[in-house]
Amino acid sequence: MIPKDVAAYLKKRVTKGKLAAFTGAGVSAESGIPTFRGKGGLWEKYDPQVVANAKGLTSLLRKHPGELADFINDFYGVLLKARPNPAHVALSLLEKEHVLSTLITQNIDNLHQEAGSRSVIELHGNAFRIRCTGCSRTLIFEKERLAEMTALLKRKKDSYLDLLKILGRYFPRCGCGGRFRIDIVMFGELLPEEELSRAYECLEACETLLVVGSSLVVYPAAGLPLFAKEHGATIIEINHEPSALSNLSDFRLTGKASELVPAVAHALTS
Ligand code: OAD
Repeated sequence: MIPKDVAAYLKKRVTKGKLAAFTGAGVSAESGIPTFRGKGGLWEKYDPQVVANAKGLTSLLRKHPGELADFINDFYGVLLKARPNPAHVALSLLEKEHVLSTLITQNIDNLHQEAGSRSVIELHGNAFRIRCTGCSRTLIFEKERLAEMTALLKRKKDSYLDLLKILGRYFPRCGCGGRFRIDIVMFGELLPEEELSRAYECLEACETLLVVGSSLVVYPAAGLPLFAKEHGATIIEINHEPSALSNLSDFRLTGKASELVPAVAHALTS
């Protein structure tokens, strides 16, 4: 399944601990989470300038509360059902075997952690976490509470005041006076500084970067594989179609992440 030159590179040239991974929505597609772009992608159904934008969300709540409730239900309905697939599992095994140093992800679905990965840098936050807008304290947004919230939203979805009350309950005020919000980076917002600087550090140190399932069109995250390449890393890309970085990749594996990542992990550990 893996071309001979890639298999030979993986076996002979990858040093333990000098491999890093960078993942996008494609790694979770086979867990049932639609990607953002392309056919059937989330942005085909919803306008990211509205639902992935803090101001857009506030205005949607005021003007079309039912649409906001539908979006939240759709979004979390899928996330709550998703389970790690063989690609997530293989990446976590590579970390356990000390082959993979760090996994940098644009995903907010928590599936890498659910699969057992520990050294994860989340560039775009996590949908199962809330963060205080005042003091930046974070709390886990438990799945049970999320399911409870979506069930309530389904029932009361057309009234602005009802929706406001429900959202106020699940995104409460913090002791500092600020309000909790979902800990996801929205359009127009800065990436978390600490995560970004850890990512740069990791990419400077790695010798090989495995890029899995990203279109590589959203900056600044999409610039990170390029940064690794400029700092001497060999890039191996796994995607079922070309990405914006494909011509810079040293090796391209075309196909499904759930098949190719385990095959790469097997070559690296057997
Ligand atoms: P995209 O939806 O832009 O790209 C997904 C990529 O995964 C595409 O290149 C697909 O070809 C590939 N793909 C899909 N299924 C695959 C599979 N089974 N195996 C291998 N590859 C597959 O998602 P991202 O690149 O992650 O930002 O998008 C980056 C950011 O854009 C997201 O983090 C999000 C979005 O707007 C924020 O929410 C801030």
